[in-house]
Amino acid sequence: MSLLSPEWTGLLYLVAAVCFILALRGLSSPKTARRGNLIGAAGALLAVITVFLSARIENIPAILIAIAVGSAIAAPISRRVEMTQMPQLVALFNGVGGGAAALVAMLELGSSESPWTKVAVVFTMLVGAVSFSGSAVTVGKLQGLISSRPLVFPGLALVMGGIVLAALVAGGFVVATGAPLWAVILLVIGLVVGALLVLPVGGADVPIVISLLNAFTGLAVAASGIVIGNLLLVVAGTLVGASGTILTRAMASAMGRGVSGILFGAFKGGSTAGSTTQSDRPVRTSNPEDVAVLLNYAQRVVIVPGYGLAVAQGQHTIAELATTLEARGVEVVFAIHPVAGRMPGHMNVLLAEANVPYESLREMAEVNPEFKNTDVALVVGANDVVNPAAKTSPGSPIYGMPILDVGDARQVVFLKRSMRPGFAGIENELLYDPKTSLLFGDAKDSLTKMLGAVNAL
Ligand code: TAP
Repeated sequence: MSLLSPEWTGLLYLVAAVCFILALRGLSSPKTARRGNLIGAAGALLAVITVFLSARIENIPAILIAIAVGSAIAAPISRRVEMTQMPQLVALFNGVGGGAAALVAMLELGSSESPWTKVAVVFTMLVGAVSFSGSAVTVGKLQGLISSRPLVFPGLALVMGGIVLAALVAGGFVVATGAPLWAVILLVIGLVVGALLVLPVGGADVPIVISLLNAFTGLAVAASGIVIGNLLLVVAGTLVGASGTILTRAMASAMGRGVSGILFGAFKGGSTAGSTTQSDRPVRTSNPEDVAVLLNYAQRVVIVPGYGLAVAQGQHTIAELATTLEARGVEVVFAIHPVAGRMPGHMNVLLAEANVPYESLREMAEVNPEFKNTDVALVVGANDVVNPAAKTSPGSPIYGMPILDVGDARQVVFLKRSMRPGFAGIENELLYDPKTSLLFGDAKDSLTKMLGAVNAL
């Protein structure tokens, strides 16, 4: 027996949908992201409770057990995961969502004779299965369980073409016959397509593919809403599909890449991965005391945080260093590159964790003209996002990516552990520039020593 009338159900679904829209709005700025996240979670909770109160559900104990098991697994993983492993976690949850949509659609196959519903079933199963296996491969690549290099084999394009054709044929049979066997075949084909789509993608592009698969899951969920006649799933899935697509495009353009090039580059024989090269030319090295003097007597310092700052967990130390310098009259700002780190907004989240005021952050377009008037650019665990090869080396994997013009500053200091390149695997000429000095070591360690040296001045 359902406890809610259809009118109340519709009204509560509307409230949940509005929560999802407000959540997306909140997530569009670091200032409001936390609140946006909470509003989205509240909307999802409301939606789940509404389903329990409004629908005639069988097997409630089994559903509650499944929810308890899922929560018991997901909650500790989410709590314990390192910030740098967040893309894997997002991919994992996203893949599970796609897989769930595919299974729900498959189970509903016999419940409607309408060919349109069956088309929606086929779409949900195929896209959901692609998202599930594709996401599993991305998790494997980012977690180092499988090689992050593009995995290709001769004839891949032909195999892929054949499998897509097989998917269309199997989908046609599912619509025509509704036979479970064809549904299982379709599901398996979807899983193979997902894996083959992602295996040829190079490590640096994997986070973009995760975002694309997120959009796929959204579409699969929206289609599953049509299959089971649930309007809220259609709305929520469409929102995820649209926002995932926008994010994918934004990330690709911030990296100077095209989405189709990322997905199908390897099929055409090209590779999106860079080659690791290291030269043994001399560089100018420095020590924490000298860098402290440089910073202390500067008028304006721009800090460029990157992936290495997140790895070293040096955000609190860098925030303290900035405050200390500001108290001594040095103007300090943080330059944020849109793809610094390994996920969108990575640096914003990292610095927010250390309570760096939002007013101290500068976006790339805003800060680039200001480097000319900057005494010291302090590059902390960043590399690709300041690599001039993006402007000067056609053929380089990052060519065309907008960069932070730290080379325009009077002095550049890099904090990194070695001469190893960044994610794109290419050398950075700026490291050899006469105005650049390198302070080798773990970023947190170096920052702690620099802070001590500044305090001792
Ligand atoms: P990277 O170019 O990857 O450089 C990171 C630097 O940090 C390396 O030079 C590394 O050198 C150093 N490092 C690592 N651990 C460190 C530690 N504990 N202490 C000090 N230094 C450390 O990072 P980036 O400049 O932030 O650029 C991000 C890259 O990721 C770009 O290529 C971007 O396209 C790619 N990417 C980003 C995203 C998003 S959305 N953010 C998505 C996909 C791909 P050592 O090993 O010598 O220390």
